[in-house]
Amino acid sequence: MVLGTQWGDEGKGRIVDLIASRTDLVVRYQGGNNAGHTIVTDGKKIILHHVPSGILRENSLSLIGNGVVIDPKVLVAEIDALRSAGYPVSPSNFLISERAHVIMPYHREIDLLREKRRASGRKIGTTGRGIGPVYEDKYARRGIRMLDLTEPEAFRNRLVSVMAERNAYIEKVLGAESLDPERVYEEYVGYGEVLRPFISDVSAIVRRSGDEGKRILFEGAQGSLLDIDFGTYPYVTSSNAGLGGVFSGTGAVPALISSIVGVAKAYTTRVGEGPFPTEESGEIQDALRREGEEYGATTGRSRRCGWLDGVALNYALRTNGVTAIALTKLDVLSGFEKVKICTGYGYNGSVTKEFPASLSVLESCEPSYEEMDGWDEDLAGIKSAEHLPPNALRFVKRVEELTGVPVWIVSVGPQRDMYLELRDCVVSR
Ligand code: IMP
Repeated sequence: MVLGTQWGDEGKGRIVDLIASRTDLVVRYQGGNNAGHTIVTDGKKIILHHVPSGILRENSLSLIGNGVVIDPKVLVAEIDALRSAGYPVSPSNFLISERAHVIMPYHREIDLLREKRRASGRKIGTTGRGIGPVYEDKYARRGIRMLDLTEPEAFRNRLVSVMAERNAYIEKVLGAESLDPERVYEEYVGYGEVLRPFISDVSAIVRRSGDEGKRILFEGAQGSLLDIDFGTYPYVTSSNAGLGGVFSGTGAVPALISSIVGVAKAYTTRVGEGPFPTEESGEIQDALRREGEEYGATTGRSRRCGWLDGVALNYALRTNGVTAIALTKLDVLSGFEKVKICTGYGYNGSVTKEFPASLSVLESCEPSYEEMDGWDEDLAGIKSAEHLPPNALRFVKRVEELTGVPVWIVSVGPQRDMYLELRDCVVSR
């Protein structure tokens, strides 16, 4: 299993891409097209929002689990884009759960209208993709599932009754114009036609593959600090981005999970609003953003940047039972005279190493830092630990000491092959 240990954008896509070359199946378990995985392959940049990045590997089956929410319009466009980039997508290498919920136009509308109405300082900074409203409908038992799109008569009836309620909310509470159910029906039943061959019982495939001893990679989106339960609530996404999501979101059982890889960037970023104790301003933030190209893959927004937060990282490792760390973008720290890791939060005269649930504590705590000497060398092309500059290796070792979790892999550049494996502890070739 691969999951993010920060606020998303840790570089999960490339770690998934790498592990996918050693597994038979890749299964995504939550989130929707709020995620964006950027993968650089043969000098080409591909951004995937729905389709698991395993699709780029031959002989790998990519699945979208029932915990994912799907915008069919985006998915259809993504399949077309992959095909025109030379990656064949067909039901033999890509399937979608019949139980996955569908992001409908009114979900996007509600998401955008609500964000617009929220007073400044109270905005969540959502991606505007309808994620909150679609999960809300799922739990309110008025959702539309992928399967529904393929059963026109029942779909129409359900849509009409759901939209009567959602339209009333849009008009009376949000003060906007309602949407026409007939037009929505026509459009979405069309997506149902196109996607029908891909719609399947994914949980059954997962279980069967497990029984057959196939190697399965479960891919998380966002990061565990955006998890609806363990994240910085309410500045979170609306699904379980962490460990729990894999079970409810795919039908996997615990015995199927042998390793949990926590992806952590060598520094920290966040898009959208919400507390971020190690956020920097000025030159450090600018340099991290520039060198790390920290702009959102989905919305293009500038990411907020700061030093590695060891307190938040330890919390994420603990709540997800992470067995190995994938440390990404170490190369971005090249050129800093000093690099820092936060090892505690100062609040009310004392220092804590526990990640607080309280927003006000998180917003006002003072990070305490350990400072280390930096390095200047370009790390791209380094393939083994002994070739790393000593200070860069010291940084990696310090992450292991502070967390008690082994670092399995370190990425040192944007290309697929720019990484080094420090140990063999996760997935052997
Ligand atoms: P939503 O998921 O669009 O509702 O947005 C909720 C919060 O999660 C916002 O702060 C978003 O910026 C953040 N978010 C959602 N998806 C991602 C992601 O894939 N990477 C980073 N942040 C994300």
